[in-house]
Amino acid sequence: MNNPASSPANSGDTPRYPVTELTHVELQLASWCNRSCSFCPSGKYPVAKALMSLETVERILVGLEKIAFTGTVGLHLMCEPFLNKQIVEIIRRFRTRLPQTFIRLETNGEPIKNMKKLGEAFDAGLNEALINCYGSPEQFRNRADQLLELNKSRKNMWFFNQYQDWPPGPPSTWEVVRLRAFHSDDYDLSSWAGLVERPNKPELPLPLSCNRPFRNLHINYLGQAVLCSMDWKYEVVFGDVMRQDVEGILNAPLMVAYRNNLTVKNRCMPVCERCDKGMPVARKPGYPPVDPWTIPRKYWIRAKRLYWSVINGLGK
Ligand SMILES: C[S@@+](CC[C@H](N)C(=O)[O-])C[C@H]1O[C@@H](n2cnc3c(N)ncnc32)[C@H](O)[C@@H]1O
Ligand code: SF4
Ligand code: SF4
Repeated sequence: MNNPASSPANSGDTPRYPVTELTHVELQLASWCNRSCSFCPSGKYPVAKALMSLETVERILVGLEKIAFTGTVGLHLMCEPFLNKQIVEIIRRFRTRLPQTFIRLETNGEPIKNMKKLGEAFDAGLNEALINCYGSPEQFRNRADQLLELNKSRKNMWFFNQYQDWPPGPPSTWEVVRLRAFHSDDYDLSSWAGLVERPNKPELPLPLSCNRPFRNLHINYLGQAVLCSMDWKYEVVFGDVMRQDVEGILNAPLMVAYRNNLTVKNRCMPVCERCDKGMPVARKPGYPPVDPWTIPRKYWIRAKRLYWSVINGLGK
């Protein structure tokens, strides 16, 4: 196996990595998922069922406060986030302590049957929920109806499928819900670094760079900073938030080595050597409109945006 920390790309003095480069933090709120989709590593090998504790969340928050983090916080790393019953409290803490962050999650929607929990998550400060409908077209229709109903009592909530566009205002104030009609297996999906089969196998390692170790920090339920969302088995651990601060992790020799090799498009390192990220993937069927007014509404929103930008431009 290659040892990236001793590779040529890691020789010489490397300047400290600026913490301002970090734009995404992803957290694994639970060690498992309630489903085992054919295209996902979850459920394909045994894992101990455990949740990220509030103590770990606290350490992460302290670390991110120290660097005044204002980027995106994802709560769905390698798991089903709503399995963590403290999720609303976790969102509340992030919103209170890091008010400018954009907090989002992706979910299979099964633990939030009646969407009440989703409302609570938005009340706590969630900005975006992508709800994947892996079940059936009926599941998509039922959920669309539930969300339109929820929208009646939550005027701030922006149902993407109804508008097919993003809301105005700063993302840290958004309450967006997206419903993905992902109810069949006929996608061209990634292989999760070889953990699942994909139809069109590329020649590996890909001669490509990757921005993950430059922009992202992926923290598993134990508080370990792992390589990325491909690293389901925690094969590459850069550091540990329970013992180190964020700057220390970003400058850990192993993380520096991964960055140095990826800069020169060298993926000959554990996990990266098996990864197909960067290969084009077909994303279908996307976001079907929920009513006949969807498309006119989308162009109305765009026309209003254009109008205001022209008016503001003329006023300068
Ligand atoms: C691993 S899931 C975790 C969150 C949640 N359990 C869910 O499915 O939404 C995160 C995202 O990866 C997507 N995904 C799963 N398998 C994939 C694959 N083989 N290629 C690309 N994306 C995939 C899911 O649809 C989801 O949007
Ligand atoms: S894609 Fe999401 S819902 Fe499906 S098994 Fe993976 S983690 Fe679970
Ligand atoms: S190349 Fe793949 S495995 Fe390596 S950091 Fe990027 S996404 Fe992760």
